[in-house]
Amino acid sequence: MASRPFIVGNWKMHGTRAMLSEARAIDRAAQRLMQVEIALAPPFTLIHPVRREAEQIGVGAQDCHPADGGAYTGDISAAMVADAGAGFVILGHSERRQGHGEKDKLVSEKATAALDAGLKLILCCGEPMEKRESGKAIDHVLRQLKASLPDTIEEPAERLTIAYEPIWAIGSGEAASIDDIVEMHTAIREFLVKTFGEEDGAAVRIIYGGSVNAENAAEIVGADEVDGALVGGASLSAESFMNIVLAVQEVIANRD
Ligand code: PGA
Repeated sequence: MASRPFIVGNWKMHGTRAMLSEARAIDRAAQRLMQVEIALAPPFTLIHPVRREAEQIGVGAQDCHPADGGAYTGDISAAMVADAGAGFVILGHSERRQGHGEKDKLVSEKATAALDAGLKLILCCGEPMEKRESGKAIDHVLRQLKASLPDTIEEPAERLTIAYEPIWAIGSGEAASIDDIVEMHTAIREFLVKTFGEEDGAAVRIIYGGSVNAENAAEIVGADEVDGALVGGASLSAESFMNIVLAVQEVIANRD
């Protein structure tokens, strides 16, 4: 576990202005839980209002386009989400890869654009069930990660977080087992050390996502090489999201 775990709520395509009260409640609670770094990635339309509400939590986007601007109807550039108040962007989520046909190369181009716009990255990777069942999960994830990274990244420890999200665990109510999470995160860590060197590679955060809730968060985030969690469904109310944060905070208290 990282010295300061990173818990990120991914609101996906949920949230109108009526949900700003949840963001406000999360931010107020976060002001009393400083040992955990907390962030929300609302839909594009709520980035600016959530940023305005938030004093403590980070705010990010769930995607961006690789181009600076131009004739791309319906798309949003990295500079636009940064201008709206995002400090980071989630890229390569399996719902983008599956629902929008995003390939590793496009994710890498988006990552480069996001860094150029001054954003930090949460880069997602994860295997489908058939890769896990055939014993190829680690190969699949490392190949995906390698191809999805931006060509260059300065200060990776500062600017890059990897989110391991096995596709079959997302929204299914079935998180991966602790053993499987630790095995994958350890493999990702080795890859990061090989790619960025001992010091930076050890400091890039690796967070887990896929059916994290208040019941399993302490065990997952307390496990070796797990530096936090990317939370979907359970981040949609302040109560369920902060119960996750409280569970993680308790792990920290018991450790100290
Ligand atoms: P979930 O989603 O927590 O609802 O499984 C996680 C994610 O997709 O980031």
